Amino acid sequence: MGSVVVKQLTKNFSGVDVLKNIELDIHEGEFFALLGPSGCGKTTTMRCIAGFEAPSSGEIRIGEKLVNDISPHRRNCGMVFQSYALFPHMNVFDNIAYSLNIKHLRDSNMFKKLGVYIRMLNSKLIKYPKEIEEKVNSILEYVELKEHARKLTGELSGGQQQRVALARALVMEPQVLLMDEPLSNLDQKLRHSMRNTIRRIQQELKITTIFVTHDQEEAMSMADRVAVMNGGEILQIGTPTDLYSNPKTPFIADFVGTSNILSGKVTKKANNLTCVQVGDYEIQSAMEVEQEDVQLVIRPENLIVKDKSESTIDNYFNGIVEVATYLGSTVRYDVRAGDHNLLVDTVFESGDKIFEKDSEIKVVVDPERVLLL
Ligand SMILES: Nc1ncnc2c1ncn2[C@@H]1O[C@H](COP(=O)(O)OP(=O)(O)OP(=O)(O)O)[C@@H](O)[C@H]1O
Ligand SMILES: [Mg+2]
Repeated sequence: MGSVVVKQLTKNFSGVDVLKNIELDIHEGEFFALLGPSGCGKTTTMRCIAGFEAPSSGEIRIGEKLVNDISPHRRNCGMVFQSYALFPHMNVFDNIAYSLNIKHLRDSNMFKKLGVYIRMLNSKLIKYPKEIEEKVNSILEYVELKEHARKLTGELSGGQQQRVALARALVMEPQVLLMDEPLSNLDQKLRHSMRNTIRRIQQELKITTIFVTHDQEEAMSMADRVAVMNGGEILQIGTPTDLYSNPKTPFIADFVGTSNILSGKVTKKANNLTCVQVGDYEIQSAMEVEQEDVQLVIRPENLIVKDKSESTIDNYFNGIVEVATYLGSTVRYDVRAGDHNLLVDTVFESGDKIFEKDSEIKVVVDPERVLLL
């Protein structure tokens, strides 16, 4: 059972609460991302789960077992870090086999042989038991590194090194895989392909995975569920689509995807619509709220650009195109609407009109697409 349950976890460093009442309920086989800005407490949460950091208070259960007093190497968590932390003097195969072999020697009461093993590794004379050979070979296939097995890790690209680190964690068959910003040292193209590799392996092995990142695109594209953190707290947990369409706060709306966030005041409620004064504009939302001061949150793809002369439309801002960026299948407009800057993403099909810089336009929004937070 590889579930991870965290209850009322707090961590205090020198009088500062860096984790405040963290609650997590991560299901077996789930790919769960901890997402948040730098310093919000992602790594500390992960280190508490792995056992490298002792909680100030709270409970951590792995596979339903309380692990607070259990040392890291007995928690059965595999770790992958941003820096790959590989052994540079060993080849790929030996790197992956290392912990497995130490465990084998320990389990078979061959402590005395450990020294012999290390010397053999250094002199490259090592002969592994068949079972270890097979396990390492099979994991090498998973991470597509079979043909690089005998290379030193320094002879590999960044992506290949990260796959060695992943293989080294997976070969131990951990209950839980913990990954802390594993892709941030890679260039963008490699990051994209490693996302797919990690996701594929995670799904094939059905291993419970906690993935720490400050990159919202990474979290949203890989995880089954995402916890958004800020200032040592978890603000919201949900599926990527949940978080994107129903962010609880403007911070989350801004952090998860791109949003237009405008301040407004509720003026009246009629016909199931809430009217909000935003500068010179009155914008309607289908959302009901209690408070008078609100933040309007509108995703760029929910704004529609129309020619200024179109008369039969309501719920719009008058605007002037400041920048029109053609991106192939979409056009992004930076629009000045009175005191506000609006970002608009429109789908572009061949033959569509692109409004050029300084065009006078209307930016229309469906009240259903205006969130009031
Ligand atoms: N050993 C420590 N002693 C004192 N303060 C610490 C220690 N480790 C972390 N902190 C503080 O705890 C807070 C959370 O740090 P943490 O490393 O968990 O953030 P993070 O979300 O992983 O950030 P990043 O995205 O930059 O890696 C920070 O303010 C950090 O300075
Ligand atoms: Mg960190």
